[in-house]
Amino acid sequence: MGVLRIVTVLFLVGCVWSSYGLCGTKPAEVPKAKTIAELAARYDSSSCGECHIEQYEQWENSLHAVSILGTPRTAPTVLTSVDMGLKLFPYSGVKTDEDVEVRHLMMCAKCHLPQLDEATDDVAREIVKTIRDWMSASKKAYDDEAYEDVADELQEKIASLNIGCLVCHNKKAIIHKWADGYPQPDTIYAFQEGEHDHPDFNKLGKAPALNESIFCGQCHGLGPNFELDEPSQCATLYGSYLFAYIPEGGHDTCQECHMAKSGLGHDMQAYRNETMIKMAFDVEVDAMSHFWRKDSVEGVIPLGVINVEIYNKSGHAIPDG
Ligand code: HEC
Ligand code: HEC
Ligand code: HEC
Ligand code: HEC
Ligand code: HEC
Repeated sequence: MGVLRIVTVLFLVGCVWSSYGLCGTKPAEVPKAKTIAELAARYDSSSCGECHIEQYEQWENSLHAVSILGTPRTAPTVLTSVDMGLKLFPYSGVKTDEDVEVRHLMMCAKCHLPQLDEATDDVAREIVKTIRDWMSASKKAYDDEAYEDVADELQEKIASLNIGCLVCHNKKAIIHKWADGYPQPDTIYAFQEGEHDHPDFNKLGKAPALNESIFCGQCHGLGPNFELDEPSQCATLYGSYLFAYIPEGGHDTCQECHMAKSGLGHDMQAYRNETMIKMAFDVEVDAMSHFWRKDSVEGVIPLGVINVEIYNKSGHAIPDG
C-alpha cells in the first residue's frame, strides 16, 4: 500500500511538472476519417509551411513527403502485395479489392502511413482503387495525352497521404508513452514546452527521444514485424544500425548524419543525393600487372591483380531492403 501511494504521488508530481498536456494516459480518441481527403486534411503540412518555410521546403523534397507514392515505386508495390499476397493467402479474408481493410494495409502502412489506423476500411479500399486508377491512367497517357491530367490528379491524391510534420511531431513523436504520456491532439512535440501560434496546435510539448536514433527506428525497421498477424519485412536498417554499427564503436545518430552533417535538415536523403554519396564510402584501389619473363614469348597474358577496399562509412548496411 505504502509503495503504491508513493508511486501515485510521484506520478501526480510528474504531471504537474510537465504541465502542457503531456500526461494523456490513453491515445487521443479521434473520429475515424471516412475518405482519403479527410485523412489527408487531418495530417496536412501546408499550414506549418506558412511559418516554418525552411523545414517545409526541405521536407517537400524528401521521400517522407510521398511515402505511399514513393519514387513512384511504392504505390505499385502496395498493389502487388494485395494481388500476389493478400488475395493468394488462404486465411487473409481478401478475395477481391472490396475485401481489403485497414488491418490488411497496415502491413505496409505501419511505416509508410501510420495514421491509416485513424481511418475506416472504406479509406483502405479507396487507396487501392486510387492506385489502380492512377496506374491505368498513366499507361493510357502513353498513347493518349488526354489521360495525362487524369493521371496527374490521381498521383496528387496518392501523394496527399504522407509522413508529414504531424506524423513526426505528434503521432509518432513520443515513443515511451507510459513514461512520457500519449500525444495530445492540440500539441506539437519537439524540444520546448510552451505556447504555439497555430489555431489547432496551440501548445508545444517535449518529445524526449526526437533527436535519438530510436525515433527513426520506429519505421526504419528491425526485421520481420512480428506484431502483425502476417509479419511483413521491408526496411531493416535500424537493426543493422543497432547490431552492427553501434557494437563496432559507431556513435553518430541518424539525425546527426542525415540532418546535421549532411546539411540537409528535413530533406533526409540517401544514395540519390550527391552529399550523401560522398559521405558513404572510402574506396581504395591498388592495381598491378605481372609478366612472367616479359621478353620471352609474344602474346603471353599478364597476371593482373586488383585490390579494392571499400569501407562503409554510413551507420548501417547499404543498400537496405
Ligand atoms: C503562425 C506561425 C506558425 C505556424 C503556422 C506553425 N508554427 Fe510551429 N512554431 C512557430 C514559432 C514562432 C515557434 C517557436 C520557435 C522557437 O521558439 O524557436 C514554433 C515552434 C515549432 C516547433 C519547434 C519546437 C521546439 O521545441 O523547438 C515545431 C516542431 C513546430 N513549430 C512545428 C509546427 C508544425 C508541425 C506546424 C503545423 C501544424 C506549425 N509548427 C505551424 C510558429 C508557427
Ligand atoms: C518496418 C517499416 C516498413 C514496413 C512494414 C514496410 N516498409 Fe516499405 N519501406 C520502409 C522504409 C523506411 C523505406 C525506405 C528506406 C529503405 O529502403 O531503407 C521503404 C522502402 C520501400 C520501397 C522502395 C521505395 C521507393 O520509393 O523506391 C518500396 C517499394 C516499399 N517500401 C514498399 C513496401 C510495401 C508494399 C510494404 C507492405 C507490404 C512495405 N513497404 C512495408 C519501411 C517499411
Ligand atoms: C520524418 C520525421 C520528421 C518530419 C516528417 C518532420 N520533422 Fe521536424 N524534426 C524532426 C526531427 C528528428 C527533429 C530534430 C532534429 C534534431 O535532432 O535537431 C525535428 C526538428 C524540427 C524543428 C526544430 C528546429 C529544427 O529545424 O531542428 C522544427 C521547427 C520542425 N522540426 C518543424 C517541422 C515541420 C514544419 C515539418 C513539416 C514540414 C516537419 N518538421 C516534419 C523530424 C521530422
Ligand atoms: C513514420 C515512419 C518514419 C519515420 C519516423 C522516419 N522515416 Fe524515414 N522513411 C520512411 C518511409 C516509409 C520511407 C520511404 C518512402 C518511400 O519511398 O516509399 C522513408 C525514407 C527515408 C529516407 C530516404 C531513403 C532513400 O531510399 O532515399 C531517409 C534517408 C530516411 N527516411 C531517413 C529517416 C531519418 C533519419 C529519420 C529520423 C529522423 C526517419 N527517416 C524517420 C518512414 C519513416
Ligand atoms: C555515420 C553516418 C550515418 C548514420 C549514423 C546513419 N546513416 Fe543512414 N546513410 C548514411 C549515408 C552516408 C547514406 C548513403 C549511402 C547509400 O544510401 O547508399 C545512408 C543511407 C541511408 C538510407 C538509404 C539506404 C539504402 O538503401 O541505400 C536510409 C533509409 C538511411 N540511411 C536511414 C538511416 C537511419 C534511419 C539511421 C539511424 C538508425 C541512419 N540512417 C544512420 C549515413 C548514416
